[in-house]
Amino acid sequence: MAAELIEVPYIWKEGELIPWHDAQIHVLSVAVQFGSSVFEGIRAYATPRGPAVFRLPEHLRRLQDSCRIYRMELKYSADELTRGVARLIAANQLEACYIRPMVLRGYGTAGLNPVGTSVETYIAVYPWGTYLGEGALEQGGDACVSTWFRPHPNTFPAMAKSAGHYNCSQLIKADAVLKGFAEGIALSPGGLVSEGSGQNVFLVRGGELYTPALDGSLLHGITRASVIALARDIGIRVHETQIPRETLYVADEVFFTGTAAELTPVRSIDNITIGCGRAGEITRVLQKRLLDIMHGRTPDVFGWLTYVADVLVRDTVPV
Ligand SMILES: Cc1ncc(COP(=O)(O)O)c(C=O)c1O
Repeated sequence: MAAELIEVPYIWKEGELIPWHDAQIHVLSVAVQFGSSVFEGIRAYATPRGPAVFRLPEHLRRLQDSCRIYRMELKYSADELTRGVARLIAANQLEACYIRPMVLRGYGTAGLNPVGTSVETYIAVYPWGTYLGEGALEQGGDACVSTWFRPHPNTFPAMAKSAGHYNCSQLIKADAVLKGFAEGIALSPGGLVSEGSGQNVFLVRGGELYTPALDGSLLHGITRASVIALARDIGIRVHETQIPRETLYVADEVFFTGTAAELTPVRSIDNITIGCGRAGEITRVLQKRLLDIMHGRTPDVFGWLTYVADVLVRDTVPV
C-alpha cells in the first residue's frame, strides 16, 4: 500500500505561496520525460518551541550539490530557501511535517541536451508519519536483500539526490513489498551491502557499529552522519567499511537511518532473525538520543535544529 499524500493549502513556487493544486507542470517538461529533477527530503518536528527543522543547512547544501552535479542553476540561496521553508510551514499551520524542495527542468526543449532548459524551484510540505508503518520504530521491520543492485558509481552519481535515481529505489521497494517484506537492502555493483531503497543501513556486532563506506553507490545520508556523530559521542566505535552480505545475517542488531525512516530497527533479513528479533540495546540508545534531539526533548548540543519561529523573527521580508 503506497503512503497517502495529505494535502495542505500552499506550495512554495519561485518565492510565492501558491494553492496546492496550482503547482502543475507540462507533461512534456524535461523533468517528466527524463526525470531531470533534484530534490531533498527533510523533516520538521513538533518541539516545545514550535516546529523545528532537522539539519536544514545540511539538506540545503546537498540540494545545492545535486544541482551543481546536474548543471542546474539554483536561483535561490540557502538563506532564501530557509526563509521559504519557514514561511511555508507557518502558512500551512503545521507543527510537524515532511519537507520536499524540488529543483526541476521545465518545458521548452525537445532533445536530450538539458543545457538551457528553464529550471523551476518548488517546496512542498505535508504531514507524514512513520515510514515503515505504525509501530515500526519500536518493533522494527522485516527486510530482504534485493535482487536489484544500486547503480555503478559512474552511472548515476550517488551524491546527487536526483529523481531519476529513484527508479532504482522503486524497483527495490516494490520487489521487497511484493515479496512480503517492508524494505529491501540493495547491494553495490561489487556485491557488497550498499543501502535500502531510501535509507542507509547500520549493523552492530560486538558492541561496535558498522555501516557501508561512501563508495559511490549510496547516498551520503544526513541521518547516517548524525547517528555516527551520536555514537562516537557516547564512545561507540564506528566503522565505515566494506560489508559483505552475509554479515547482515550474523549481526547482533541492524537498523535503517534516513529522514523518512528516522532510526528504524530491522528484526529480520531474508527471514533470518537478527539478534533477538527486536530492537537491540545499541539501536534503542541511539534511536532515543536521535529522536530526543529531533523533538527538542533534550538540549540540541550539536546545533541540529532550525526553529521556524527564529527564522520568521530574524527576517520578516517575504521570500
Ligand atoms: C537512497 C537513499 N539513501 C539514504 C537516504 C537517507 O538520507 P538522509 O538521512 O539524508 O535522509 C535517503 C533519503 O533521503 C535515500 O533516498
